[in-house]
Amino acid sequence: MTTDEIKKKYLDFFTSSPRDHKQIPSASLVLENDPTTLFTSAGMQPLVPYLLGEPHPLGKRLVNSQPSIRTQDIEEIGDSRHTTYFEMLGNWSLGDYFKKEQIPWIWEFLTEVLALPPKKLYVSVFAGNGDVPRDEESYKIWRKLGVASDHIFAYGEDKNWWSRAGTPAQMPAGEIGGPTSEIFYEFTGVAHNKKFGNECHPNCDCGRFMEIGNSVFMVYKKTNRALEELPNKNVDFGGGLERITAAVNDDPDIFHLPVFGEIVKHIEDLSGKKYGKSEKETQAMRIVADHMRAAVAMAQEGLEPSNKLQGYIMRRLIRRSVVKMNTLMGKTTATDFGKITQTKPILNEVDRFSKTLQKGLREFEKLPKVDGEAAFNLYQTYGFPLELTLELAHEKGQKLDPKDFKEAFKKHQEMSRTQSAGKFKGGLADVGGETTKLHTVTHLLHAALRRVLGNHVSQKGSNITASRLRFDFTHHSPLTSEEIQKVENLINDQIKKSLPVSYAMMSLKEAKAAGALAFFTERYGDKVKVYTIGDDDSWFSREVCGGPHVTNLSEIKGRVKITKEKSASAGVRRVYAKIIT
Ligand code: SER
Repeated sequence: MTTDEIKKKYLDFFTSSPRDHKQIPSASLVLENDPTTLFTSAGMQPLVPYLLGEPHPLGKRLVNSQPSIRTQDIEEIGDSRHTTYFEMLGNWSLGDYFKKEQIPWIWEFLTEVLALPPKKLYVSVFAGNGDVPRDEESYKIWRKLGVASDHIFAYGEDKNWWSRAGTPAQMPAGEIGGPTSEIFYEFTGVAHNKKFGNECHPNCDCGRFMEIGNSVFMVYKKTNRALEELPNKNVDFGGGLERITAAVNDDPDIFHLPVFGEIVKHIEDLSGKKYGKSEKETQAMRIVADHMRAAVAMAQEGLEPSNKLQGYIMRRLIRRSVVKMNTLMGKTTATDFGKITQTKPILNEVDRFSKTLQKGLREFEKLPKVDGEAAFNLYQTYGFPLELTLELAHEKGQKLDPKDFKEAFKKHQEMSRTQSAGKFKGGLADVGGETTKLHTVTHLLHAALRRVLGNHVSQKGSNITASRLRFDFTHHSPLTSEEIQKVENLINDQIKKSLPVSYAMMSLKEAKAAGALAFFTERYGDKVKVYTIGDDDSWFSREVCGGPHVTNLSEIKGRVKITKEKSASAGVRRVYAKIIT
């Protein structure tokens, strides 16, 4: 079976009776109004407001397939089953069904629709911690389905707890999470490798087992003090489409799937090496195949390699691919990569970086001493992997201790971890709070700009964090201070009037007929969500938008101030604004 066939079967299964889910469109890889993470990393991410309790326009049972990117283990890519970019099959209950429906349904899908042999499936349940009890209910449901007791494992919060931040202790205030029940597939003919521990078990990393699905019982929200129960008992299921396909094919190497096949074939042709022959070369090929697939997905979203945020991740993926191609084929060029992808921003980066690498080699020659910090700098600046530096150092008759490199590496890693933890925390606590307020202010700003400057103004992009909003729009000249003043006054007058904010579902045609602005259309099947600020017969703003928003402008509790105005690109202006309380 192919990934597409399995995706269709899953969506059909969950939309059909008695499950009756509504299919929601997949979100883009970079979420417009979520400052908490760089990329969409799970299907639940765009659904956070609804898991927190806001009603979803399509109801309480949702299903989709969500392209996702996980960057936390870029350095670990190279085994048979981890990838940076993947597609996640997901189904959600927003306070509707719970364990006794979810577990049998997912079992039915795997064992009947996909015909996976029940004996090859293992499951896990939460073993409990000081605050949340052991999940006996899930255990009993699995047993009732006929799963043998030696196929059910209980793990603690490091394995059977899910939140975007990790364990309960790692969750910042505002983050949601809960205990999980996972499903694993046991591949035929893969023996346990003692390198990964004496005993093999479903969560062992030796490659015999692979996790193919995770039902999160999303019932908790972290507060400043403890875990608090959410108003709704939610289910958040996610299953890696590529992994489920590997299980159906009983082939433990997901790089054998056609989605990777073509890239792997190009790498083989370019390097003259054979996939699967030597462990080291196979690993390098997987890294290039994975990173290129992810970088192409990013390029398709309009991202370009840069030194910041998403662009930085994209740059790292491309650079690492170049380094790995170098180890496979000696010197590599953009022309070689042109066989793998036609994407301009990627090829430009390959070109720039291969030249930098050559320069790095010359710099290296000049280094008086190759110590840990120097090796790290070579790694950081020129993408030199440690093995390469060791080999060169060796040629120069110098001794470099890999431990020194690792220490320097750890020091820098900790620094960047602290920085990203700060970012994560800052944003997350405010999903549904400050970010939501500023999202509503964005609509007010859009409407006010059109009234003051004219109807040629249309939104080109926006970016909202907990402390400010950024808004790009079409306009030919800088705003004068009078214009800025007028826009601010108009916005603040509406806030003072405590206008209501409401939404309705309609077709895009009806939305346009009702006067809604529709530049970014998030669709819910054939319907769109239209937010109105003001009364139905005399509104101030009406826009097609996914939400969330405040329900009344009085919740903004402050005055809006435009803090900066500048050019974003030709014919596009950029303003920053914040709420002053
Ligand atoms: N959010 C959970 C995960 O990503 C289940 O969808 O694993």
